[in-house]
Amino acid sequence: MCGIVAYVGSKPCCPLLIEGLKRLEYRGYDSAGVAILEPSGRIDVVRAVGRVSVLENRLTQRKPLMGSLGIAHTRWATHGGVTEPNAHPHRDDRHGIALIHNGIIENYSTLKTWLQERGHVFKSETDTEVLTMLIGELYDGDLEAAVQAALREVTGAYAIAVICEKEPGVLVAARKGSPLMVGIGADEHIVASDPSAVVAHTTQAMTLEDYQVCRLTPDSFRTSTIDNVPVTPKVHELEMELQEIERGGYPHFMLKEIFEQPSAIQQTMRGRIDKREGRIVLGGVGQYARELVKARRFILTAQGTALHAAKIGEYLFEELAKIPAECEYASEFRYRNPIIEEGAVVIAVSQSGETADTLAALREAKDRGALALGVVNAVGSTIARETDAGVYLRVGPEIGVASTKAFVGQVAVMTMLAMFIGRRRFMSVEQAAGLIDALEKIPDAIGRVLEESDHIRKVATRYIERENWLFLGRGYNYPTALEGALKLKEISYIHAEGMPAAEMKHGPIALINEGMPCVFIANRGSQYDKVLSNIQEVRARGGHVIAVATEGDDEIRKHAEDVFYIPDVPECLSPMVAVVPLQLLAYHAAVLRGHDVDKPRNLAKSVTVE
Ligand code: AGP
Ligand code: GLU
Repeated sequence: MCGIVAYVGSKPCCPLLIEGLKRLEYRGYDSAGVAILEPSGRIDVVRAVGRVSVLENRLTQRKPLMGSLGIAHTRWATHGGVTEPNAHPHRDDRHGIALIHNGIIENYSTLKTWLQERGHVFKSETDTEVLTMLIGELYDGDLEAAVQAALREVTGAYAIAVICEKEPGVLVAARKGSPLMVGIGADEHIVASDPSAVVAHTTQAMTLEDYQVCRLTPDSFRTSTIDNVPVTPKVHELEMELQEIERGGYPHFMLKEIFEQPSAIQQTMRGRIDKREGRIVLGGVGQYARELVKARRFILTAQGTALHAAKIGEYLFEELAKIPAECEYASEFRYRNPIIEEGAVVIAVSQSGETADTLAALREAKDRGALALGVVNAVGSTIARETDAGVYLRVGPEIGVASTKAFVGQVAVMTMLAMFIGRRRFMSVEQAAGLIDALEKIPDAIGRVLEESDHIRKVATRYIERENWLFLGRGYNYPTALEGALKLKEISYIHAEGMPAAEMKHGPIALINEGMPCVFIANRGSQYDKVLSNIQEVRARGGHVIAVATEGDDEIRKHAEDVFYIPDVPECLSPMVAVVPLQLLAYHAAVLRGHDVDKPRNLAKSVTVE
């Protein structure tokens, strides 16, 4: 979902901007561009469709850009096709202004008509160019004031960086609804969509809030609202380390993050479980313990992989905390005029903490009086800052577009949250201590499955020509089946559908044909025999069964073409382990099909538009 990097300082910034764009590539994009104020006094703009490497190559074919004020962008098209004229940066036609933008200007059409009536000639189909021209129209010698005035006129979401030929050494940034941060260096400032483009240069940073504008020079900055009310931003230390965002010898970030899961989950649990007392310690929600214990209902809301984790949370809250819980797509929740009664608690689940639909659902629930918690990975992200309380995943930056370690981290956090509440309601010390003991063994269990990666690749090799798969599970592992299907879809582009195993009989079984791969999560559990029956139904129609089963289960071999074994863990903890073979299956299938695993087509790491 687009990337913004901008620089104002004392050194030629082109290499830094291109390096920053590369660090943001994982966010997903389709074109890129850079604009730098040159010593000649002109802003030179270079843009290219495709990868940042295409832009980089174009830059080597021309006179080097030497300026120390610049903006750079990777675009994820929303308004206008993937073409060079639509790529950012965009320029106005009067004052030598250049702008880059993440988000959507919803009232761009009305503004465009108004600007055309005032003689402005547009060269692109984008909403972003309209904002650029509007700032030009309102410019009267003060770029910061023109940006503030323009932003008072627009509706929608934006993170922008703007420069002007008439104001060398001045960079203006602003945000509403899309993330933007400022790295504070020695005689330089770097504006970026997320810390990964900044952490190589400074660890001092500040995050802009919605409706805030920041005017930056090499050695100063001023932050205000769009109404020009000064605000004092909070400066914080960046926690991310550079090596965390490097690939570390793995061929892809996704594989690195799959193999990081044992250590990542240990980080998630560190300092939060006390086996002796059978207690869960969650500082981030401690002050709301009473409200949580007395909660009448939990509403978990998210999108994508986070939604699948939230769906597992629904089962966990009902079994471990004995409180009604429901999971809902954030995009549906926010528009269906939800009923939020006294005692309802909303939990927003999000890796990035910037997903527009999830943020909007959270705001809707808070406006209606709900206590709002966050289960988020990105520290200081918008969702994390707007919830009343929350629990960070602590799995480290997740760079691969296909979410893996964050999913397992989300399930681990919701398990602990459900136990945190359950221990204050009906769960005994012994029950809690037993579950904590099993929870502490999950990292090793995942590690054992990771050793099966080569076997899983061999199985993937046999099926990668098949274009339609089913993923089936019951109970806790019905959402795991949904997640397995999403993983395969989003990186191998194979069509896959996840569903409750019992649901197959109600229509989808018509899809079963000779050799069709059907992945069953058939680990030992309360519905094992029922899953076996569903497996028989598939095999009777020629389907090929790939089963995720519990170590030592020899019975399953009679009913499946291929088996991925996982260690025996309690049913409520099994999704964290059962998902791992499905992650590896999707990864290997995508690599075997020659796809760019870390940057799948059309996808973005953080969907900050509706
Ligand atoms: C998961 O592999 C996808 N990249 C996507 O579905 C993602 O989970 C979804 O967009 C939600 O993102 P979030 O967790 O950052 O809110
Ligand atoms: N809406 C703008 C466009 O389509 C920006 C998209 C983005 O966030 O990259 O160009």
